[in-house]
Amino acid sequence: MALFHWSHPGGPAWGKYYSSLHYFTSKSKTMIPGPKGLPLLGSMGLMASSLAHRRIAALADACGARRLMAFSLGETRVIVSCNPDVAKEILNSSVFADRPVKESAYSLMFNRAIGFAAYGVYWRTLRRIAATHLFCPKQIKASESQRAEIADQMVRIMLGSRKDENVVRVREVLKKASLNSMMCSVFGQRYRMDEANTEMDELRGLVDEGYDLLGTFNWSDHLPWLAHFDSQKIRFRCSQLVPKVNRFVTNIIADHRAKKTHSNRDFVDVLLSLQGPDQLTDSDMIAVLWEMIFRGTDTVAVLMEWILARMVVHPDVQSKVHAEIDEVVGGSRAVTEADVAKMGYLTAVVKEVLRLHPPGPLLSWARLAITDTTIDGYHVPAGTTAMVNMWAISRDPQVWRNPLEFMPERFVSKGLGEAEFSILGSDLRLAPFGSGRRTCPGKTLGLTTVSYWVATLLHEFEWSPLDETEVDLSEILRLSSEMANPLTVKIRPRRGIRMSQSS
Ligand code: HEM
Repeated sequence: MALFHWSHPGGPAWGKYYSSLHYFTSKSKTMIPGPKGLPLLGSMGLMASSLAHRRIAALADACGARRLMAFSLGETRVIVSCNPDVAKEILNSSVFADRPVKESAYSLMFNRAIGFAAYGVYWRTLRRIAATHLFCPKQIKASESQRAEIADQMVRIMLGSRKDENVVRVREVLKKASLNSMMCSVFGQRYRMDEANTEMDELRGLVDEGYDLLGTFNWSDHLPWLAHFDSQKIRFRCSQLVPKVNRFVTNIIADHRAKKTHSNRDFVDVLLSLQGPDQLTDSDMIAVLWEMIFRGTDTVAVLMEWILARMVVHPDVQSKVHAEIDEVVGGSRAVTEADVAKMGYLTAVVKEVLRLHPPGPLLSWARLAITDTTIDGYHVPAGTTAMVNMWAISRDPQVWRNPLEFMPERFVSKGLGEAEFSILGSDLRLAPFGSGRRTCPGKTLGLTTVSYWVATLLHEFEWSPLDETEVDLSEILRLSSEMANPLTVKIRPRRGIRMSQSS
């Protein structure tokens, strides 16, 4: 029977469905093209790869199935699209408003946070609360001074690298900065980046471990008969992590309860003030707060590292950004977020980096079909996992002119037709934050932070390679797609004022 199921397009999980009564009674009988993979396992090797997005794109080409391809991950039926029109159909359909929940997400309580909560009243309530109190323009504006303070600390740390011949390991600084920023917005805690802090270090360790656990492909999510063994030790590690996270966040919640008045309202205060049906239990609060720290930290740092790497690889583009910043800001003061709004070329650079290096090449977390539906003319049964390969779409020569060329001008010049291009989810040719009901709620905060900090770092420094060797732009897909080899560069201060302040 297993061999019979395996003989179908898409492999064993699809074969099982095609042999069921459900399929015989469905309206469309056309099978979605796709690889068979191996008996029982299907195409597990695809997703276990650290370059799953590249391998899926290559396979879709080989099967002539870029619009829609079916494959099996053990017992899980999966569809994936590398086409903007079909991607839109999937992401904007209310049928795909749910997410498949991995065991690690359950164990880490993420099923009670926005990203993995089932589509329904609870999820809608969380999104509304977050949209009103964390991600709205007023709140983003209110946290501008904290981002400015962190930008200043980053610059000072980098200036300190002059002792080490101006060599900077960028990732460490960026991760610290983004964690600090989220800590401030969510928990109201301010730390100095240049001072040792055990609480910060502990949180960094918790985030790193959670990131690793959620980013690891867990074979038993798709092969239930393996679940008993916990062979990758994922369940064990989750059970070690959860009490530490609980203790950490519970202490912060208790501190907030103990304080009667707050000068600055943070997200913990907001959650504690909820009344009536919106009120959350302590464990739900922990899940929501933990997710925000978790989601907001790495995405921002990963994207900034890619942008800075591209600046080193393309000094001509870097010079143009320098010229723009100098024109808008001059050399005598620091950049502000209002300045960034006037920087069309920098905005184009950010878009171009998101096109070539989307932090979520498969849009991070997949979607799950709540009911039977039709996608691109094919019948897709309830319970199917759907993915969009944004990496493949944003490098498709049918969609983009010279797609492999780094050319921010494509988003500037009216002649090239993309000057007004929105990357926020309305145009699926480039939607790095996803689209539809489950689109990223933190996209404006993320973009504001990234653009402002990059503008500051480019205003302050000239970035160049460490030596004659080229910057290695190869990537590795964990939870986000990050540079396989962390960026290490030389910097040269550009503004005399900063140099004299720090010396
Ligand atoms: C450059 C930065 C970021 C990128 C590229 C990014 C990307 C994404 C993507 C691709 C998704 C899945 C969307 C979909 O399924 O259609 C997502 C979801 C999500 N993001 Fe972001 N994100 C970023 C920053 C942030 C920040 C700063 C936060 C919060 C502080 C955040 C919180 C979330 C949450 C909670 C979800 C789940 C939404 C849901 O399922 O309803 N993200 N993000």
